[in-house]
Amino acid sequence: MRIKYILILNSIILFSACATKPIMYDSFKPGEIWLDNNGVHVNAHGGGILFDDGRYYWFGEHKTEGENGNFANVGVHCYSSRDLYNWTDEGIALAVMPDSSGSDIEKGCILERPKVIKNNKTGQYVMWFHLEPKGKGYKGALSGVAVSDNITGPYTYIKSVRPNAGHFPFNVLDIHYGDSPSLGQRFDGGSLPGNIDTLNILGRDMKGGQMARDMTLFADDDGKAYHIYSSEENSTLHIAELSDDYLSHTGKYGRFFPGRFMEAPAIFKRNNKYYLMMSGCTGWAPNQARSAVSDGIFGEWKELGDPCIGDSMHTTFHSQSTFILPVQGKKETYIYMGDRWTPQNAIDGRYVWLPVRFEEDRFFIEWKDQWNWENRDN
Ligand code: GAL
Repeated sequence: MRIKYILILNSIILFSACATKPIMYDSFKPGEIWLDNNGVHVNAHGGGILFDDGRYYWFGEHKTEGENGNFANVGVHCYSSRDLYNWTDEGIALAVMPDSSGSDIEKGCILERPKVIKNNKTGQYVMWFHLEPKGKGYKGALSGVAVSDNITGPYTYIKSVRPNAGHFPFNVLDIHYGDSPSLGQRFDGGSLPGNIDTLNILGRDMKGGQMARDMTLFADDDGKAYHIYSSEENSTLHIAELSDDYLSHTGKYGRFFPGRFMEAPAIFKRNNKYYLMMSGCTGWAPNQARSAVSDGIFGEWKELGDPCIGDSMHTTFHSQSTFILPVQGKKETYIYMGDRWTPQNAIDGRYVWLPVRFEEDRFFIEWKDQWNWENRDN
């Protein structure tokens, strides 16, 4: 009787141990549900990763259920990991402000593509993101900035700006000093009538600052950092230098790929060359990726075409770029991080992480149902 009792007790203990034990991953499964340490699908969309003191920190948009879940109802979520497969929930790094608080980052605003870098001079962690004030659609085209002394937060919101007010880029054209014809109906999501330079959107916005939507940050080896964003009604990518404290723009910037409507910029550096991966401009629907290479951050950027191999649908394997992560301590190892958006139920958005492969000065990405360092065949 006693033995039977002990056996039952043991199996209860064993069962409950199994039921609560978090899943341990040892591979990436692009496009599948990805559970965190609490057994909840990771909620960090449009994200980026910062490696700090032996750990990776993943920051991204916290989405909620349904279509309304595309708005910022919660804030920027942070997760940490040592192996990149298994992620611990570190909570909300930057929280939106309550309804009707009148804050720029009030609940219901649009807060997208947050990226965090560390400033070694000030010791602060600096977050930039694309911000659209509540109820104004995508007209604001602002960049928000927040800081924290702790990597996981809480981050304090400082301000939002249109970059580089009062400054022309170093590669300004004569035409930008002239008039700007009225655009009539504005941004239509990926094309504008006529030649971008003759429309002179840059000149139109010179005084008030340039539009900035999809964005990323890049901290270079020399400590300088750059803000890279889709500008001029999304038609043209700007690369702008940040001040020494990373909290504002210096006024030094360049415009690249005019009229190409590049979105979702992801940048990395390898062997002293800079690489960009970007998407076209089709909202939440995926489109064909683009890539480019340059010897310097400010150019000359040369387009390399679609880096995806075997992507017969031309949808970047049904994803949109958000970040390219250099893996610490592994030579030549970079991970493509993309979002597979589900705008009708935003919280269900998936992550497509794939290995980046190099051939001379080009990089390529191929689909894998499942992969890890051991079976990465490059
Ligand atoms: C995408 C962009 C996303 C989000 C979306 C809204 O093109 O990359 O970050 O802004 O449009 O439709």
